[in-house]
Amino acid sequence: MQSKRILLIIGGGIAAYKALLLIRLLAKRGHKVRAVLTPAASQFVTALSVGSLTGDKVYQDLFSLTDEAEMGHIELSRDADLVVVAPATSDLIAKMAHGLANDLASTLLLATDKRVLLAPAMNVRMWHHPATQRNLAQLKSDGVAFVGPEKGDMACGEYGLGRLAEPESILARIEKLFAGDTSIPLPGRRDGALSGRHVLVTSGPTREPIDPVRYIANRSSGKQGHAIAAAAAAAGATVTLVSGPVALADPPGVSVRHVETAREMAAAVEQALPADVFIAAAAVADWRAASEQPEKIKKDASAAGALTLVENPDILAGVSRHASKRPALVVGFAAETNDVIAHAQAKLARKGCDLIVANDVSAAGGAMGGDSNTVHLVSAGGVVDWPTMSKDKVAAKLVAAITSLLARAERSA
Ligand SMILES: Cc1cc2nc3c(=O)[nH]c(=O)nc-3n(C[C@H](O)[C@H](O)[C@H](O)COP(=O)(O)O)c2cc1C
Repeated sequence: MQSKRILLIIGGGIAAYKALLLIRLLAKRGHKVRAVLTPAASQFVTALSVGSLTGDKVYQDLFSLTDEAEMGHIELSRDADLVVVAPATSDLIAKMAHGLANDLASTLLLATDKRVLLAPAMNVRMWHHPATQRNLAQLKSDGVAFVGPEKGDMACGEYGLGRLAEPESILARIEKLFAGDTSIPLPGRRDGALSGRHVLVTSGPTREPIDPVRYIANRSSGKQGHAIAAAAAAAGATVTLVSGPVALADPPGVSVRHVETAREMAAAVEQALPADVFIAAAAVADWRAASEQPEKIKKDASAAGALTLVENPDILAGVSRHASKRPALVVGFAAETNDVIAHAQAKLARKGCDLIVANDVSAAGGAMGGDSNTVHLVSAGGVVDWPTMSKDKVAAKLVAAITSLLARAERSA
C-alpha cells in the first residue's frame, strides 16, 4: 500500500490512549500521521507521547503564531489524504454537526476538503441520547463516515454501545478507503442532484505495449470523459475517474486513478465498484499485442508480420453483467465512422447496458481530440439526437439526463 498522510484528531475521552496504538499501527504500515490534541485530550494523553510516536510536532492551539507561520490551520486541514477523529467525543460530534469552529480541532474539521472518518467513543447513555443521535444523523447525511462504536464493558463500569472500535478495525477501515472504497464522499459537495451518489467514469485512450518503445493507442483525448466526471462532481456526486494517459489536468473534486492499459483500467474499475452509475467514456483498445517484447523489435522483414493480437477485457460488458455489483445505470459510448445509430443499437444489446452515447467520429471537426461533439442517445426507448455542442455542454446535459434515468431505473427496480 502506498504511504498516505493522515491527520489524526484525538478527542478528550478515556479511550484516547488507544489513539497511541493506532498511530503505531499506521506508522508500521508506512503512513505518515500528523496529530492534533484537543485540550481535553491532553488530560488523557500527553503531547510528548503522541509526538514521540508520530515523529512530528503535535498541534494543539488554534492561536499559536508559530503554527500559523509554519503551517496555518487551513493548510493543516488540507495537507492530508484523510482526516481521522479517534476517539470522537460526543462534544466533537456535536460541534461538527453544528458547524462550530471554536478550537483547533473543530476549525480543522470545518475547513477540510478531505474525507473524514470518525471513531466515536463515549458512555452508552451519551451515545443513545437523542441529541447525540440527531448529531450523528446530521453528520451521516453530510457524508462523514464512521467506524464503530462497539458494544462491550465500558471504563465507567457500564455495558453497551460506545466503546472505541479497536485500533486494528480503524486501520482496516482506513486502508479499505485508500484501496478504492469511495463510499465516503468529499465534504462540501452534497447539495446537487447527484449528492450521495457514486459515479464511476472512464476516460481517455488506453496504451497497449508492443515493446519498450512502441504501443497501440487511439486518438481519444479524454476531454469528453473528463468533462463528464467534472459535471457529475459539480452535481454533488462522489466521482471516481479512471483515466488512461491524457494531457489533461485531473478535474477538481474527483478521485482519479491513472492507468495505461485496458487490463489496468478493468482492474481499477472493478476496485472502484460499487457505484450507482457507470459511464464508460474511455476509448479502450479492443486488442493488445499477444506478448510484450522485452527488447525493441528490429526493423527487419521477419518482425514486420510478427505482431499477433489478442482481445482485451470488455469493461463495459463486464460491468453491465456484473454478478454482484452492477450499477443501477450503465452508460456506454460508441465512436463510429458509419451507420452510427445501427452500430450503437447493436452495441446496446451486445453489452447489456442501459444507454449508449453514440457519435460519428468521421464528422467534420472530429469528435476525437476536438472540443465539440455531436451525440445521439440510444436506449431501448429509442434514439434522441442532440445538436452539436461543446463537450462541457454535452457533459452537463448528459449528467442531467442520467439523474432522471437513474431515478427511473431505481423506481422500476
Ligand atoms: C474521566 C473522563 C472521561 C471521559 N470520557 C469521555 C468519552 O469517552 N467520550 C466523550 O465523548 N466524552 C468523555 N468525557 C467528557 C469530555 O472529556 C468532555 O466532553 C470534553 O469537553 C471533550 O472535549 P473535546 O471534544 O474537545 O475533546 C470524559 C470526561 C472525563 C472527565
